[in-house]
Amino acid sequence: GKNVGILAMEVYTPRTYISQSALESHAGVSPGRFTLGLGQEGLAVTGDAEDVNSMALTVTHSLLEKYDIDPRAVGRLEVGTETLVDKSKSTKTVLMDLFGDNADVEGATVVNACYGGTSALLNAFAWAESDGWDGRYAIVVAVDVATYARGPARPTCGAGAVAVLVGRDAPLAMVDPRERATHSCNVYDFFKPDHAVEYPVVDGALSQTCYYRALEDCYAKFCDRVDGLEGVVDVDGHYHADSADYFVFHAPYNKLVQKSYGRLHFLDARRRHARGASPRLGGDSSEEKKDETMTAAAAADVARVAVAVSGPFSEADLTRPIEETYADRALEGTLKSVSGPSYARRLVDANAASRVVGNTYTASVFLGLASLVDKAGGRGDLTPGKTVVVFSYGSGAIATMYRLHVREPDAAASGGRAFTVGEMARKLDLSARLAMREEVHPQELDLALETRARMHRGGAPYSPVYPTIGRMSPGTYFLNGIDSKWVRSYSRV
Ligand code: ACO
Repeated sequence: GKNVGILAMEVYTPRTYISQSALESHAGVSPGRFTLGLGQEGLAVTGDAEDVNSMALTVTHSLLEKYDIDPRAVGRLEVGTETLVDKSKSTKTVLMDLFGDNADVEGATVVNACYGGTSALLNAFAWAESDGWDGRYAIVVAVDVATYARGPARPTCGAGAVAVLVGRDAPLAMVDPRERATHSCNVYDFFKPDHAVEYPVVDGALSQTCYYRALEDCYAKFCDRVDGLEGVVDVDGHYHADSADYFVFHAPYNKLVQKSYGRLHFLDARRRHARGASPRLGGDSSEEKKDETMTAAAAADVARVAVAVSGPFSEADLTRPIEETYADRALEGTLKSVSGPSYARRLVDANAASRVVGNTYTASVFLGLASLVDKAGGRGDLTPGKTVVVFSYGSGAIATMYRLHVREPDAAASGGRAFTVGEMARKLDLSARLAMREEVHPQELDLALETRARMHRGGAPYSPVYPTIGRMSPGTYFLNGIDSKWVRSYSRV
């Protein structure tokens, strides 16, 4: 196999953040509303001195520098973002300033809510997999400033960028490109029809439902595909949520991810039920129950497997229309306790960063992967053979679930350089970097967004006013200004 996948990663998020509990008191809402209600601890904040171009420049420059990548060794560069700056001129072209005299770089910017980065990644994988591949690396950058108008969605703002180096013989590889499934449909849950403002028009409740629907459809198809490919062993011989070692979910806010993950266990039980799976240990259980010679141990096994097959769910739960289950509070509680330990083992690492950074739209699943590499990889738990299932959702909607395998790269065989998960974890150093950020007063959220709004409608020329300079880490790009011909220019701290 070519083992196309992720060779290296870098993350950038603004150095200033707001604590969600401070935001609760500042906003005058009930304590726990954002911290417990949404499951968030902090949100990264930036004003008009940073835009997606500057953040993409920062993270791409840093990726090239940290991993010592020669810009001439890159043949494809694609950006996912939904925070459009110059609309027809893609952020990819701005990044060409980092590639010296190498103008021979394919790729553009892909747009669809939080999904553009995943689309870009799949394009890069397909390129590296194809006969048209010229042996060079691809880079995928996912970058967004997540902003919302005043209201209940505002605590789900955030900002971040992730750059990913793609190639063959990867330590995080899509070993079999067929291990993925997509759900796309036409819904208006979140979109940006008003070009005078940066904010989306969002139907929060609908967006959650669309996320659930997409997850269900992707998950069912993904399980079937993996089953068809290798026949994963479960209590009844099928792929299920605990077959994966880790999950990474698109994370608008933690609570949604927790609830969605719980639903996978419900979907498993419904799929088993639909297959007519009855508990069996070497035979049909009803037969076995009748068998007088069955030992007590075997009977206990049958009982254990019976619980594993149908779980704590009623016949009605397993058969009623799935949409009726979205708002079922009792079921939600059951799912929380059923999936709790698995969630702690399989998803908490990936969600650690987004809990303190907030939504980063296209970058969200990539930030999740980076967080997993930082936490589990840093502990040495991302060992060869382990699998990571990624679920990416973008409103509108497009969603894909795909699987990555942890591998020991074989540089000698490929004649190249060996990238490892360990190197990624060290170079990301994500927890430590997030811990070094500066907490700012919650009123800065409104101030920062107000400066961004001014930039958005301000015309040209424009000079940034938000006090970011002096607070930025060395190596961070910022917007100098927009000149009278609408051209943006950037400098690096
Ligand atoms: N203590 C504990 N929990 C609380 C408290 C409190 N003081 N106050 C409220 N809560 C709980 C609620 O009970 C509710 O719990 P539940 O999730 O178990 O139902 C939760 O906090 C959320 O409160 P709601 O009133 O349901 O919703 P809210 O008005 O806070 O809005 C929403 C939340 C819809 C997510 C909003 O922030 C939003 O629209 N965000 C943007 C859209 C979004 O992120 N969609 C996700 C997928 S699409 C995407 O990625 C953009």
